[in-house]
Amino acid sequence: MESQGDASSQVDDRKRKVFVKSYGCQMNVYDATRMTDVLAKEGYEETAAMESADLIVLNTCHIREHASEKVFSELGKIRVLKQERAARGVDTKIAVAGCVAQAEGGEILRRQPAVDFVVGPQNYHRLPDLLRRTGNGAGVVDTEFPIEDKFDHLADPSPEKIRTRGLSAFVTVQEGCDKFCTFCVVPYTRGAEVSRPVHQILQEVERLAASGVCEVTLLGQNVNAYHGEGPSGGAWSLARLAERIAQVPGILRIRYTTSHPNDMSDDLLAAHRDIPQFMPFLHLPVQSGSDRILALMNRKHSVADYLRQIERIRTARPDMALSSDFIVGFPGETEKDFEDTLRLIEEVKFASAYFFKYSARPGTPASTMDEHAPEEVKAERLARLKALVDGQRDAFNQAMLGQSVDVLFEKPGRRPGQIGGKTPWLHAVHVDGPQDLIGQIARVRIIEVGVNSLYGHLGDSLTEASH
Ligand code: 5AD
Ligand code: SF4
Repeated sequence: MESQGDASSQVDDRKRKVFVKSYGCQMNVYDATRMTDVLAKEGYEETAAMESADLIVLNTCHIREHASEKVFSELGKIRVLKQERAARGVDTKIAVAGCVAQAEGGEILRRQPAVDFVVGPQNYHRLPDLLRRTGNGAGVVDTEFPIEDKFDHLADPSPEKIRTRGLSAFVTVQEGCDKFCTFCVVPYTRGAEVSRPVHQILQEVERLAASGVCEVTLLGQNVNAYHGEGPSGGAWSLARLAERIAQVPGILRIRYTTSHPNDMSDDLLAAHRDIPQFMPFLHLPVQSGSDRILALMNRKHSVADYLRQIERIRTARPDMALSSDFIVGFPGETEKDFEDTLRLIEEVKFASAYFFKYSARPGTPASTMDEHAPEEVKAERLARLKALVDGQRDAFNQAMLGQSVDVLFEKPGRRPGQIGGKTPWLHAVHVDGPQDLIGQIARVRIIEVGVNSLYGHLGDSLTEASH
């Protein structure tokens, strides 16, 4: 651990406030909750107003283009806030967390001295210690990959806290990645693949369920490569973990993201067929439909391999909806490569997808490859991909019209007297119905399909939740 400040603790009886701003993926959303849980033990309560925060945490993402520049520009604004508060005699600490923190480390302190500490994703359990060590204006950096398990040292949220976060929760089961796609920073920022032990995950899910959570999304950069230690030794697969989580009273739905096509094991497909709580929606990034580009990306699968996986998945679960990630303008991508991607999309038919213009990440192999595509080419290809998938998404949504589907109700709806929930395929649904259905699954007949949500009528048969 690199340390540039001496230890000094702040003595302050006033209830202190923390504001966390998260960018990027769902794991960052989850990490933000774990950070605020740890800080709650230190007397910090969460605030949604940055101006009133004694501690401001930027929980950053390194995937997007100009990620670091955006962080520095945000830090410039926060520095002004810190100065204004200091003029009123109030101290403000600024922390940078997440993948930009991991990638840039001490450089952040050099470029923005108003930052008090920089903390990498593997060190959130050390936040109390880091806070104590920042005091005299000298910054602290903690971006090492520790030997201790951070999850053993993070604090559990209180039942009240869990309830305020809603009925659907994220649970990280695996972190890091060993795949080394040539465009991606994740193996460097999140490190090598590590799976959490089964007992730790179960404890977390049981706590969540006891406080009303009925849907869990298991998170990992390479979640279907999960191989955590089982209760009596030996590694458990994601399928086995899900099967056990399905037995936790109150857990009505289980999802997971993000998966790699090469890790769709037979037992995972069997689990999709056999576990009723396993939802039929799979995010399975392919990135490109050209074998030449897939090889340059070091994806370790071909287009035919991907299509074979889709066939296996749809054999196990014919109603499985798929989404994916695509990168346009990868170095050397020709119009022909791009058209191969369009063809793949036409063949698979996705319910949704995310599109990214290739952006060079320093330190990754692709960043030094030749033939970077001009911006206009990337923009044009992205628009064509989006138009194609938007059409597929609209068709997928339209197919819901007249169907009866199970909806898990999660919250009051947009209008008075309405409640809102989700289908197994992640459509938002609104119905006129009683608030006491929140936390339960009920059958809904879809009578209207909008751009962003569906509207329906409650059916007769209700499936009671078990809590
Ligand atoms: N440029 C563009 N997109 C990227 N992604 C990851 N790295 C890059 C990059 N350097 C995209 C991939 C990945 C998603 C989370 O972000 O599509 O699946
Ligand atoms: Fe990045 Fe995913 Fe490739 Fe891992 S599998 S290197 S997280 S894109």
